[in-house]
Amino acid sequence: MRILSGIQPSGTMHIGNFLGAVKHWVDSQSPEAYYCVVDLHALTLEIEPSVLREQTADCVASLLAAGLDPEICTLFIQSHVPYHARLSWLLECVASYGELSRMTQFKEKAERQEGYRVGLLTYPVLMAADILLYNAQQVPVGDDQRQHLELTRNIAERFNNRYGEVFTIPEAIQPNAASRVMDLQEPTRKMSKSISSPLGSVYLLDEPSEIEKKIKKAVTDTENEVRFDWETKPGISNLLEIYSSFEGSSPEAIASRYTRYGDLKSDLALLVIESLAPIAERYRELRNDPVALEAVILRGDEKAAEIAGPVYRLASAAMGLI
Ligand code: TYM
Repeated sequence: MRILSGIQPSGTMHIGNFLGAVKHWVDSQSPEAYYCVVDLHALTLEIEPSVLREQTADCVASLLAAGLDPEICTLFIQSHVPYHARLSWLLECVASYGELSRMTQFKEKAERQEGYRVGLLTYPVLMAADILLYNAQQVPVGDDQRQHLELTRNIAERFNNRYGEVFTIPEAIQPNAASRVMDLQEPTRKMSKSISSPLGSVYLLDEPSEIEKKIKKAVTDTENEVRFDWETKPGISNLLEIYSSFEGSSPEAIASRYTRYGDLKSDLALLVIESLAPIAERYRELRNDPVALEAVILRGDEKAAEIAGPVYRLASAAMGLI
């Protein structure tokens, strides 16, 4: 089963990225799995070049620390494989302005800034190129990427109808729990790298004391019954889903063990601290060895290009480029 997924190197990875996507990547890694750090996507919003450089290396180290094994799967950097940008252009000539301007993420991000970049609008086409270049059948992503996956399918189908069967139609794969981890301070908004209240996101590399503080201060409600119910208890339900995703039991079963919010929060804080500690430790070792990181990336880039090159050539030939 061919798998592809990506993550932006814009900001530190939080438990939303981890539980919604990366944990799934680790569980489903195989020689047929391709994972990329999408640095070209990070250019769609303002980012200092020096920061992007550092965060790209941070992101690779975090993915390895989280459990991706370059001996098993392929981990690479999007901009190092030139076919992504090249196929993106071809697909921009297949996608329509109307469908891109209807994307929820585009509308939300464009609303927050004046003079947004054209790349913010065409961003999902680049994402479609990422996926289609690898003939991916499955794309493990969090809930917020569903709409982009739908668009990818539409673009691929339109391309195949117009120019011949070149692309595999991919499918989004989502985790059972925590496909949408919410902000701890505003549990009706998703945990996000770009907009986040200071205590709203738990990062993979947070100190144990910070994790404990954030979970203990998580916004709940004025009742005192521990119950899994997103409608009326988003704060508690978010904590239960995070718990469930780290532990493996259902949110309902976890809820039945608690009568007090304080106890739930203390146990969850311990569980998260224990689960993230080995990742943070491995991260520090990996980040201090730039030569080894570079070697992993180089090898990944080469393996990725071997798959992407022929698919790009098929697509460009199908469109009439000689
Ligand atoms: P990005 O970098 O914002 O997020 C990486 C992954 O984390 C998931 N995620 C979440 N899951 C649960 N709860 C949350 N609060 C949460 N926040 C983020 C995202 O759904 C994603 O799976 N456009 C993509 C990157 C991308 C990509 C691709 C993904 C580029 N090309 C090709 C798949 C295939 C993005 O910005 O993800």
